[in-house]
Amino acid sequence: ELEAVVFDLDGVLTDTAEYHYQAWKQLADELGIPFDRDFNEELKGLGRMDSLDRILEKGGKSFSEEEKRRLADRKNGHYRKRIQRISPEDLLPGMGRLLRELKENGIRIALASASKNARTVIRQLKIESFFDTIVDAAHVSKGKPDPEIFLTAAEQLGVPRTNCAAVEDAEAGIRAIREADMFAVGVGTETAMKGADWIVSDTSKLTLQELKRRFR
Ligand code: BG6
Ligand code: MG
Repeated sequence: ELEAVVFDLDGVLTDTAEYHYQAWKQLADELGIPFDRDFNEELKGLGRMDSLDRILEKGGKSFSEEEKRRLADRKNGHYRKRIQRISPEDLLPGMGRLLRELKENGIRIALASASKNARTVIRQLKIESFFDTIVDAAHVSKGKPDPEIFLTAAEQLGVPRTNCAAVEDAEAGIRAIREADMFAVGVGTETAMKGADWIVSDTSKLTLQELKRRFR
């Protein structure tokens, strides 16, 4: 029986996946490394350093650890500029309603985000009080596609993993959910979300009623 829902943040609750893309694109342009939306799909859900490593590898560039830290900081600056004006209106369609439905029905709610900016974004969206627990990059040692972040969320909620559903928009995220033995909900195209137990083309289709019906 469904007892908890674990949410990814970027691209699921709000469209910050677009801002991550723009910020990486800006950094890649500065470095003269080709970067497009296709390649960006592979980066979704990965941590900041993992993403940078993939981009540098693609560009055939190598930098010292110190230089890489500076590049990662620079990307984060590009990103933070873009998230400054996020407000409750930036919740993706249906997500405010879904969070309320879950609360009203006593289903526990967790956040599992690879982003170190997750708290800032959640506060700006004014949805912090919905979450029974927030697990972010600071709490885990292995990033998605490793299941650690989802398993940590279930553990902190005190809910068996098989009674959890998790919502993701990234390939790496869907893999992590499946490894965690949870019910995987993918937001996106059939191709990108392949492997998910339930795929929706956009967040407006995510209702508690439908989720309960599909939950194994
Ligand atoms: C994930 C995003 O949620 O967080 C990635 O899907 C991003 O695109 C990662 O790189 C890390 O975010 P941040 O804010 O710590 O750089
Ligand atoms: Mg995401």
